[in-house]
Amino acid sequence: MNKIVVTIDGWSSCGKSTLAKQLAKKLNYVYVDSGAMYRAITLYFIRNSVDITDIKEVEAALAEINLEFRFNEVSQSSEMYLNEENVEYVIRDLVIAEKVSDVAAIKEVRTFAVAAQQKMGTKKGIVMDGRDIGTVVFPKAEMKIFMTADNAVRVERRFKELYAKNPNITIEEVKNNLEMRDYIDSHREVSPLRQAKDAVVLDNTNLTPDEQLKLALGWIKAIKEKG
Ligand code: CDP
Ligand code: CDP
Repeated sequence: MNKIVVTIDGWSSCGKSTLAKQLAKKLNYVYVDSGAMYRAITLYFIRNSVDITDIKEVEAALAEINLEFRFNEVSQSSEMYLNEENVEYVIRDLVIAEKVSDVAAIKEVRTFAVAAQQKMGTKKGIVMDGRDIGTVVFPKAEMKIFMTADNAVRVERRFKELYAKNPNITIEEVKNNLEMRDYIDSHREVSPLRQAKDAVVLDNTNLTPDEQLKLALGWIKAIKEKG
């Protein structure tokens, strides 16, 4: 059966990567977390004190960045490498989340990341999640999913994850961060977060990861059967 491209876009912390990982496993496809790329670029910019209002500095920094996903056999998941360093854990920090949306709004940053993402999808058989995957990166994708969930549920889910790593974190901080990112991501000039016209909406407020997987697999099966 022919391989397809599956795109998953949506709001922060609504379960995109959970679904994308499970789908990739079931379909034996490659999983790409495009948000990890923006997070890794942000990490580089923070470490190197890049002035993001100076485009020349941004371009010079991008020229020094090499992003790569490597599959970890132990955890059975793909991990983000920035210039050969595994940054998968550190990019999940709230410090990165506080800056990433400003970095991801820069045109040059998006051109850099989108080119790399499109290259990864040339052979299809890929599940990629993010904000502009169905609208800009793979506008011709066969299966586009737009995910959403109630704000309070999304905050609670992300809080649980971050609290496990850092018990000093408050639910207010997490809520503010999600709201800020959703606002910037959906209002920026270049590739704002939008639901693609041909995307199917998946609201998982009351769904378990297994239930959302079942739904999505059903949609993909139907698309493949239609040819
Ligand atoms: O996992 P979470 O929903 O919190 O965010 P993420 O997918 O890791 O993405 C982090 C940030 O990267 C987002 O808030 C966006 O600012 C940016 N992003 C983007 O602009 N375009 C994408 N395709 C993916 C992420
Ligand atoms: O990728 P995104 O930021 O959209 O979300 P995620 O990292 O996949 O999911 C955020 C958290 O919500 C994770 O801890 C998931 O296990 C959890 N989740 C859930 O509780 N129920 C779902 N139906 C989907 C995700």
